Formats: sequence, C-alpha cells, structure tokens
Amino acid sequence: MAEKKAFVTGHPIAHSRSPKIHGYWLAQYGIDGSYEAIDVAPDDFASFLKALGDNGFRGGNVTIPHKEAAFAGVARRDHAADAIGAVNTLWFEEGVLWGGNTDGYGFAANLDQYAPGWAANGPAVVLGAGGASRAVIHALKERAVRDIRIVNRTLARAEELGRHFGASVHGADALGELLGDAGLLINTTSLGMHGNETLAADPGALPDHAIVTDIVYVPLETPLLAAARARGLKTVDGLGMLLHQAVPGFERWFGRKPDVTPELRSMIVADIEG
Ligand code: ATR
Repeated sequence: MAEKKAFVTGHPIAHSRSPKIHGYWLAQYGIDGSYEAIDVAPDDFASFLKALGDNGFRGGNVTIPHKEAAFAGVARRDHAADAIGAVNTLWFEEGVLWGGNTDGYGFAANLDQYAPGWAANGPAVVLGAGGASRAVIHALKERAVRDIRIVNRTLARAEELGRHFGASVHGADALGELLGDAGLLINTTSLGMHGNETLAADPGALPDHAIVTDIVYVPLETPLLAAARARGLKTVDGLGMLLHQAVPGFERWFGRKPDVTPELRSMIVADIEG
C-alpha cells in the first residue's frame, strides 16, 4: 500500500512542533507514513484544500491563520468544530473532507493526565476570549463544569462567548473576587508567553485546592504558573495540550491511537529549551 501522507499547514509554519510529534509516533510504531509542514499563503488556502485528495493526503492539521478558512471550506464538520467555530484537523471519510477541532480534547486530556478529577473542582475562571478560549470553554462544557467565568480586557468579545456557551462575563477588575471560591484558573491569553508582557492575575486569591493551568508552553513555566506553584497550588503547564491535541488526527490518518509518553514530552521540552 502507498505511504500514508499527512501534513500541517499554516503561514508561517516553520516554527510548528507538530512534525516532530507525529514523526516521533510514526517511528515509534513503524508506520509507513509521512507528516510534513506546508506553508500556504491565505490566498492559496482554498485551492490547497481542493487539491488535498488528488495529492494523496489522508488529512492534516491546520493552524494560524487558516483555522476559520478550514471551518468554511470542509464538506462536513464534527461537533467540536461547530461549537468552537474553527477547524484544526482534516481527514477524509469515503471521499468526503471532514473538519474537526481537537484543541478542547487536548486541553481536557492534559488535565486528565496531570490533575485527574479536575472537572469536579468547582467554578472555573477563564482568562481571555479569543479562539483558544472558545476551545477551552467548549471542553469545560463537555466535562459539565457548571460555573464558568470569563474574564477579558474587551468585554464585548467576552459577552459573545458568554452567550454562546452560557458563561458569565467579567472585566479584569472583578478578578480578585471571582478567584476567591474558584477551583480552576485557566489562562488562554498569550500574556506570559516568552517576549510578551506578564499576566496580572494573582493566584494568591485562590483557595488551597485550586488548579492553575496555562495554554502557553513557551516558557513551560509561565509567570502565572510560577506564582501559583510558589503559593502551593497544583499547576499544569500547556505543553500537554499541544501533545494531546495531536492524538485524534494521528489515529485517523495512520490507524493507531498514539501514546503521549514521557519520552515524547522530553523531546519537545528539549526543543523548547534548546
Ligand atoms: P487566540 O486565538 O490565541 O486565543 P486571540 O483570538 O488573539 O488569540 O485572543 C487573545 C486573547 O488574549 C484575547 O482574550 C485578548 O484580549 P482582548 O479580547 O481584549 O483583545 C487577550 N490579550 C492579548 N493581549 C492582551 C493584553 N495585553 N492585555 C489583556 N489581554 C490581552
């Protein structure tokens, strides 16, 4: 049988760690397959999508800035893609191009691995109201977290999200009060990412049983996570979300559900720190 082919596309795409993740699994399981990074400019994305099948691809990942164009361009979408409004994974079923979104799955699977039982931990405070926040809130709803509090600089943006998912919406000035009885604090903004300004959320206001997680993974320990750890709280970094969101795609294209192993994690950590 022909080699199984998959890809990740974005613009730019050179920084993507997905080829390393999928390449690790292909080698680990001895699968005759490939996973390549393809830079596609926004103007060329629609024709790229149309030619996928003819070019022998079983599917692939889509990242910034193509997630919304992929949402619009596929023939069918899964429930998560519809709920989140963006597509990050493509695959064919009986010749039909499907789009899914595995970011929420990755978020939940990361917490399952490092903070089992997290979803029962009480009210969740979500910092940010962008694309990443949508995926996180979708995952929280799927896991039946009832009290979700969105905090965002731009209130109008958060309000749309709050209506869509049934979550309350707050300005940053309410943060101290919101954290007092929260069991989960989730940063979905790029604040705290290497080179960006730090986040002004003080985990000191959280109760002792709270879990703090960040979707940023460069650096692995963001200023928010460092402050939470110093305060004695359970923290989960964002790298696991990246690793776990890759699992459903690999399984669809290459026919085997891969494991997120400590060795895989160490390999990507070395890449980040290198
Ligand atoms: P993504 O798709 O990664 O979520 P995004 O859609 O650009 O990216 O969303 C970025 C999030 O970070 C938003 O919630 C944004 O707040 P606004 O909606 O007010 O723009 C938040 N964010 C980015 N820079 C920020 C800053 N300097 N201060 C506060 N919030 C910031």
